[in-house]
Amino acid sequence: MSFTADRLLLFGATGDLAQRMLLPSLCALDADGLLAEDLKIVGTARSDLSTQAYRNFAREALEKYLPENRRTGVDHFLGRLHYVPVDATTVEGYDELAKEIGDYGNGLAIFLSTAPSLFEATISGLQHAGLTEGNVRIGLEKPLGTDLGSSCEINDAVARAFPEDRIFRIDHYLGKETVQNLLALRFANLLFEPVWNARYIDHVQITVAETVGLESRVAYYDDSGALRDMVQNHMLQLLALVAMEPPTSFDATAVRDEKVKVLRALRPVGRDETVTGQYRAGAVNGAAVPGYDEELGKDSDTETFVAIKAHVDNWRWKGVPFYMRTGKRLPERVTEIVVQFRCIPHSIFEGRGATTQPNRLVIGIQPEENIQLTMMAKVPGLDREGLRLRPVPLDIAMDDAFSGAVRRIAYERLLLDLVEGDQTLFVRRDEVEAQWEWIDAIRKLWVDADIKPKTYGAGSWGPSAAIALAERDGVSWHDE
Ligand code: BG6
Repeated sequence: MSFTADRLLLFGATGDLAQRMLLPSLCALDADGLLAEDLKIVGTARSDLSTQAYRNFAREALEKYLPENRRTGVDHFLGRLHYVPVDATTVEGYDELAKEIGDYGNGLAIFLSTAPSLFEATISGLQHAGLTEGNVRIGLEKPLGTDLGSSCEINDAVARAFPEDRIFRIDHYLGKETVQNLLALRFANLLFEPVWNARYIDHVQITVAETVGLESRVAYYDDSGALRDMVQNHMLQLLALVAMEPPTSFDATAVRDEKVKVLRALRPVGRDETVTGQYRAGAVNGAAVPGYDEELGKDSDTETFVAIKAHVDNWRWKGVPFYMRTGKRLPERVTEIVVQFRCIPHSIFEGRGATTQPNRLVIGIQPEENIQLTMMAKVPGLDREGLRLRPVPLDIAMDDAFSGAVRRIAYERLLLDLVEGDQTLFVRRDEVEAQWEWIDAIRKLWVDADIKPKTYGAGSWGPSAAIALAERDGVSWHDE
């Protein structure tokens, strides 16, 4: 049954995600009049704060992380916030929480932005206080486990209290505007779908490059590494959206049915199809930065970079490599998908000395949202010295095309969907499991073959082996 919750309960309410993303997103939604007037937000965490102290804490977070031009209605938003300290590991405290939440006649949306090791205890506490009864749905922040086994344990624990259609697994990449635009590009236009297959596409590249290093998440990151932190979730979701068959409609079941088919069709990666790296001291954007081991304060075999050549074994994508790479301390922050088309079958211009290059579609997700299609065009002139052709870009810059439109934080969309109950942009259990299965096999391969990360200088595009991974196939990474 669909319902719009009139209570939102945030676990991890004093955490990093709450400060950077959740509170700013909710405040921005409130300022735009998108939250129901009677929506009460109850935050909880271990810190012993009063509601007033939490409101002060939230105000500081908004001043820090919400862009100034969106910082309106802050007092109104803070008035919605309430706080109850709870130690998630013991059932005491949950009754207090239930009392503060009160009657959730229209429904309760819960968001767990805590360490997944606390999920099971939290669910028990919620059950103890009766907070899983009635119209309740739950949002889960990543990481959902560290491998298939631990992910199943978490999913089983949550499933004991909530049916799948009440469980909202977040992958914040799905909340990004350009990621959704990928679906519009593919399925709201006639042009691309007929050529979106192995006959016309040579390969696909997916890059998620970051300039940041460990930030404040040393312990988490060192346990996780780039493969589990970025590929298992965000990058595989991007790959699934690029590769999936057209769903019959834009609804949760249809979209997720198609994505999971792609994830299940991923071929196990071969030994020569991955490269891992770890950054050493270097310079990013002109500033000197320390190496990973120096930031960490000890030696470690955790990868901060990974490149993979993946294959989707189905009719549409037979023989089309999907090259993926992600890393910390790379030269720029860029997330993009490159669809490289094949060469034309026959060139009528060859006799005139002109060469052609295959078309390329570049979907920029961040920092700029744009879509660029490279086409061949004739260089103007009388061609006395031969005909010249040159690739020129057809460019759609989203900011220009939709000037005046508000740039929303991914979590705005996702929190609103959680409160209102739309699962389309959330990850279903079978998807998570298919993702882990593929990732676990890669990790096993690294252990069995004793593959350790190669070093790369901070500010470079990763180990040279990553370049070689593509170059062996005659492919160069876009824009290196
Ligand atoms: C998170 C990862 O899921 O995504 C971080 O844990 C990473 O390590 C972040 O920095 C990247 O997100 P975005 O939206 O900045 O690309």
